Amino acid sequence: MGFMEKIWEIAKSDVKTIVLPEGEEERTLIASGEILKNSLAKLVLLGDEAVIKSKAKQLGSDITGVEIINPETSDKLEVYADELYRIRKNKGMTFEKALKVVRDPLYFGTIMLQREEVDGLVSGAIHTTGDLFRPGLQIVKTAPGASMVSGFFVMQVPDCEYGEDGTLVFADCAVNPCPTAEQLASIAVTTGESAKKLCGIDAKVAMLSFSTMGSADHELVQKVRKATEIAKKFRPDLKIDGEMQLDAAIDPTVAKLKAPNSTVAGNANVLVFPDLQTGNIGYKLVQRFAKAEAIGPISQGFAKPINDLSRGCSSTDIVNVVAITAVQAQRGI
Ligand code: ACO
Repeated sequence: MGFMEKIWEIAKSDVKTIVLPEGEEERTLIASGEILKNSLAKLVLLGDEAVIKSKAKQLGSDITGVEIINPETSDKLEVYADELYRIRKNKGMTFEKALKVVRDPLYFGTIMLQREEVDGLVSGAIHTTGDLFRPGLQIVKTAPGASMVSGFFVMQVPDCEYGEDGTLVFADCAVNPCPTAEQLASIAVTTGESAKKLCGIDAKVAMLSFSTMGSADHELVQKVRKATEIAKKFRPDLKIDGEMQLDAAIDPTVAKLKAPNSTVAGNANVLVFPDLQTGNIGYKLVQRFAKAEAIGPISQGFAKPINDLSRGCSSTDIVNVVAITAVQAQRGI
C-alpha cells in the first residue's frame, strides 16, 4: 500500500472535520465531492451558500452533507471578533478592528479551528502561503514543545535504496527563509516527530551542511553544529546527528569514512536543510531528477493542523491534503 493509500485508510478510520475557507473555489468544490464520497472528512465550506450550491451543481459535484457558513453574515461574528481581540489585544488589536478582520474567511476559519469547532484547516488554492500562515501563527500558534512552524515533504524516490526503501522526509522546505540555530533545532525535533507519527518510521535525523563533523569551518557550518547540539540536548531520545554532508547522511560507505561514530550517518531517513533556499531547491532537485513523488508541503509545529495548497494545485491534491490534515488532527502533528 502506498503512502497516500495508507493516509486515506487512517483518515476514514476516525473521521475529522476540516474547514475549507475557499469554499466558492472550483477545485475546492470538486475535491469536496470526492472527500465526502470517500468519507475522508466532514467538511465546512466558507462562502455564500447560493454561490457554493450553484457552482457545485454546475461542476457535477455532490456536496450533500457539507456545512456552509458565510463569514459575512454569520451570527457568530461578534463572538469570533471577541476571541480574536482577546488573543491579539497585546499586539494592538481592538474589538472594532477584529470585527472587520474576522469577515476574512481565512481568519474566520482559523478562529473556528482555535475554538475547536473544526479539527483542521486547508486553504491556499487562491491565497499565498503568507496569507494563510499569518492568521495561523497569530491565533493558533505553535504546539507545546515546538517553537517553530515549518513545512516538510514526504519524498518517495523510485528504485532507491536510501532512507526507508526510498522514502525520506525533507524539512524545512516551505516556511522559514533563514532560521537561527535555535529555530533549526526546533525544526529538526519537530520533523523527527512528524516522520514517526505520519510515516511510522524510526526517524534518523541528519542535520545537513557542506561539512561533515568538522571537515570544514564557516559560520554557516557553526550554525548547523550548534543547532545539532541544541536539538540533542533538548530531545536526547531522538536520533539526531550532524553536521553532515548529504552523501555521508544517506550512504553507509561514505558514512564509514566520514562519520564512523554516528548512529545516523549512512542511515538517515529525515533530512533537515540549513535554510529555506537549500530545502526548497533540494526537494525540487530530487522530485525532478529522480522522478520522486513529493507529498507536501505538510505543515508542522502548529498547535492545530493547518495546511497550505499550491495555487497550481489540482482537485486531487486538495483531496489528499485534506486527508493528511485529518490524520494530523488524529495524531497531534
Ligand atoms: N513559527 C512560529 N511563529 C512564527 C513563524 C514560524 N515559522 N514565523 C513567524 N512567526 C510568528 C511571529 O513571531 C509573529 O508572532 P506575533 O505576531 O505573535 O509576535 C507572528 O508569527 C506573525 O509574524 P509576521 O511577522 O506577521 O509574519 P512573517 O512576516 O514573519 O511571515 C511567514 C511569516 C508568512 C510564514 C513568512 O515567513 C513567509 O512568507 N515565509 C516564506 C513562505 C514561502 O514563500 N514559502 C515558499 C513557498 S512554499 C513551496 O514552494 C513549497
